[in-house]
Amino acid sequence: MNELESVREIIISAVKEASVIMMEAHGIIAEAKSGKRDVVTEYDRKIQLFLESRLRERAPGAEFFCEEMGHSCDLNAAHVFIIDPIDGTMNFVHGMHSSCISVGYARYGIPSVGVVYDPYMDELFSAVLGGGAALNGAPIHASEAPLSDTLLSFGSSPYNPELADATFTMLRRLYTNCLDIRRCGSAALDLCSVAAGRVGAYFEMQLSLWDYAAGLLIVQEAGGTVTHVDGSPVMPLSAEKGSILAAGSQAMRDFRRLVDN
Ligand code: IPD
Ligand code: CA
Repeated sequence: MNELESVREIIISAVKEASVIMMEAHGIIAEAKSGKRDVVTEYDRKIQLFLESRLRERAPGAEFFCEEMGHSCDLNAAHVFIIDPIDGTMNFVHGMHSSCISVGYARYGIPSVGVVYDPYMDELFSAVLGGGAALNGAPIHASEAPLSDTLLSFGSSPYNPELADATFTMLRRLYTNCLDIRRCGSAALDLCSVAAGRVGAYFEMQLSLWDYAAGLLIVQEAGGTVTHVDGSPVMPLSAEKGSILAAGSQAMRDFRRLVDN
């Protein structure tokens, strides 16, 4: 096993342990962050603290960029873990079983390992740079079908309602050029759905790095492409929020043709 594969195993074991906290959660109370659409629970904090302490034990000196409790760090450091303790917190609060734990690992600014675990479905998506992407250990591949033969997934940028017009204008055009539209409520799972070929494309106008760091590598290693919605590159990784578009090869070309015209 090479170094990155060992990091993947370390993350997988920490994430699986952390998922027990998520599955045993009860009496979940939402606390508003920037507003009532942007919420956190005690379980988001517990899982983040658990993952940080487990990963620090195994990788002393690593830096952490996490969703909760105001984390920031040098994204170009030698070892950076990028953690979303519960992606899909609104689903988690409302009993919609569509949430996951997402952990990315960047080496000197290069996304090198991605792990996304959906404990409700017991689906573990993972990727290592140059090693392909897998679902529960079996290789996965992005769809090569045209957008017109695939489902399209999107995120509604709920914390940035000023982007709703741009989102829904694009969606209207895309809707008649795909099989149908889905909104699952977890950006990390949306990206994994692209990687697994379940949807042809996914876009959202505003995401944070912790939402997509792991999924980005999983899509790329599955043969898909990830850019910003305007087609510009997502590298170098940025702590600033930005849009994300992920798709299989032909669906990406179709998306560009439909949105750029
Ligand atoms: C959110 C989810 C949601 C997406 C939001 C994200 P959170 O993450 O991924 O699907 O639409 O933009 O912020 O807040 O549940 O970790
Ligand atoms: Ca998130």
